[in-house]
Amino acid sequence: MAFRTALTDLFGIQHPIVLAPMGATAGGRLAAAVTRAGGLGLIGVGYADDAFIEREFDAAGNQPVGIGFITWDLAKAPQRLDTALARRPRAVMLSFGDAAPFAGKIKKAGARLIMQVQTLAMAREVARLGADAIIAQGLEAGGHGGDPNSGRSTLPLVPAVVDAVHPVPVLAAGGIADGRGLAAALALGAAGVLVGTRFIAAEESLSHPNVKQRIAMAGGDETLRTRVFDIGRAIDWPEQYTGRALANDFSARWHGNEAALRDGLDSERPRYFAAADKGDTGTMVVWAGEGVDLVKKVEPAAAIVARLVAEAEAALARAQASRL
Ligand SMILES: Cc1cc2nc3c(=O)[nH]c(=O)nc-3n(C[C@H](O)[C@H](O)[C@H](O)COP(=O)(O)O)c2cc1C
Repeated sequence: MAFRTALTDLFGIQHPIVLAPMGATAGGRLAAAVTRAGGLGLIGVGYADDAFIEREFDAAGNQPVGIGFITWDLAKAPQRLDTALARRPRAVMLSFGDAAPFAGKIKKAGARLIMQVQTLAMAREVARLGADAIIAQGLEAGGHGGDPNSGRSTLPLVPAVVDAVHPVPVLAAGGIADGRGLAAALALGAAGVLVGTRFIAAEESLSHPNVKQRIAMAGGDETLRTRVFDIGRAIDWPEQYTGRALANDFSARWHGNEAALRDGLDSERPRYFAAADKGDTGTMVVWAGEGVDLVKKVEPAAAIVARLVAEAEAALARAQASRL
């Protein structure tokens, strides 16, 4: 069985599942594995350079994959988009920042333009820019996203975006880590899902083995939205974004004490990077969404994709069977 949606038609893929372009996690091997399994894999550039892009496209081999940029970071070294487009990606995904300077170039190169948004107003804006698919990301998501005070949650945001940008296909993102989440997204009118946290614990991901194990053990109650890891790494995220990660010793010490962390950066920053090199999850960031409850083990991406689909079919059949 398979699901046919506007997304599967757009990309000629078997399953409406897209791998989130997670920086330092979704490399070419993972992206290729998700594509091979019938979804669409996206390489995550994060803050990396041209050499990373070349290397990860090489790692993807001949599997058709796409690539995702953090838009405000891309603006600092925009030639990386040319490097990526030269590798003929299936899609380019842009998140977090002004996509207007890049949208036309991506479409002209023949790649599909996917844009991730956190509000209804942003969804309308990127539809006007010509997005081929729009991702509605709720605050449940792992990694960066909106501000907890003003941001939106996946369940109400997705159908509102679906209505606002019709007929552009909409993907749900944030908190989807098993097939029940995929079924729910389809029921909300989404054409598919963008999945991040579940794939951190894929065998093929670039994450440190300690991070994968931590993800497999952790629960959603342990996550928080914070800026302290960006401050600690001295990454200049615009104020309106926070990131959801697992609470640890570092966040316990600095969350709520951000000014003191900024003042102590000269000593904290080297300490942070030394810990990250060792895979010390007590200090380094482990990005994770609320759906981390549902991640129980490290396994190949193909097994994750297959189970998402099988569970979604079972969930929809159960819902159907419960009708009077
Ligand atoms: C480890 C990690 C890194 C991420 N890095 C990026 C990134 O570089 N660019 C981006 O657009 N989104 C990034 N995201 C957010 C994803 O695009 C997506 O919205 C999110 O993972 C979906 O929620 P989920 O984690 O609950 O599946 C990241 C998410 C995680 C968990």
